[in-house]
Amino acid sequence: MKILLANPRGFCAGVNMAIECLDEAIRICGPEIYVYHEIVHNKYVVENFTAQGVTFVNDLDEVPHGAFLLYSAHGVSPELREHASSRNLRTIDATCPLVTKVHLEAVRFAKQHYNIVLIGHEGHDEVIGTMGEAPESITLVETAEDVDQLEFPPGSKIAYLTQTTLSVSEANTVIERLRERFPHIESPPKEDICYATTNRQEAVATLAPQTDVVLVLGSQNSSNSKRLAEIAAGMGKPSHLIDGADEIAPSWFTGSETVLITAGASAPEVVVEQCIDRLVADYDATVEVMTIREENVQFQLPKELRVLQAAER
Ligand code: F3S
Repeated sequence: MKILLANPRGFCAGVNMAIECLDEAIRICGPEIYVYHEIVHNKYVVENFTAQGVTFVNDLDEVPHGAFLLYSAHGVSPELREHASSRNLRTIDATCPLVTKVHLEAVRFAKQHYNIVLIGHEGHDEVIGTMGEAPESITLVETAEDVDQLEFPPGSKIAYLTQTTLSVSEANTVIERLRERFPHIESPPKEDICYATTNRQEAVATLAPQTDVVLVLGSQNSSNSKRLAEIAAGMGKPSHLIDGADEIAPSWFTGSETVLITAGASAPEVVVEQCIDRLVADYDATVEVMTIREENVQFQLPKELRVLQAAER
């Protein structure tokens, strides 16, 4: 068996920052830290922090007054920030700056009285946070068919924004339909689908034709990981979204010589390594790293954490 190892894969700059943020918060403040929703959508990462004593909550009323609360990489709504403030929570904001950028675009368009069409997945943490910036102005669409249902008063200003982790090609289909129906629609100043999403999808689309099977490391609730598996499946390749090596089924490799391995932006490299070790042990696999694009993006830790670090010195 030959493994093609996609590069780039795995952690993006936003996930790296969020995880370092929580690591540092634990080191400085101890493990009595609460995180609103999963810090990133990955089972391994969340279980690892839970084992250290971190508590993940879906409701701020579960957080004791005055406790440390960290916002996840997906961002939160202003209403949630106010709720945290009313409970005197000491907040640390690990929102990815590329998500914050979409929030700021929503605020700007709303202030200028635009009707904003947000392309995204209903119920996703990031979408809930972004919609919370201007709930009166934002309408969510997921598909081109949803666009057909939109109605705005004649002459009204319209703009669109997107979730950061969409399929680039599916988002383009929706945007095309928006432009057909509303030729004057404004686009975001800069692409909202982030560099990490775009690069991981490009790598899978480029490499999938050379393989028999595709393994995507990532959790079922990870939007960008799911998109990677869908892209490979859409190209006719059997693809499997798995959290780790334990989920590998030997039947996937019957008659297969080449396996592409990639990982969503929230999946740690250790789970990739465990999968490779399994395939090397069971199938004598060899590994070839396939670099499609180099990445060198980094985000600094949030101000609240840098203040805590400075207080230590
Ligand atoms: Fe940020 Fe994109 Fe990662 S929005 S958290 S860099 S997947």
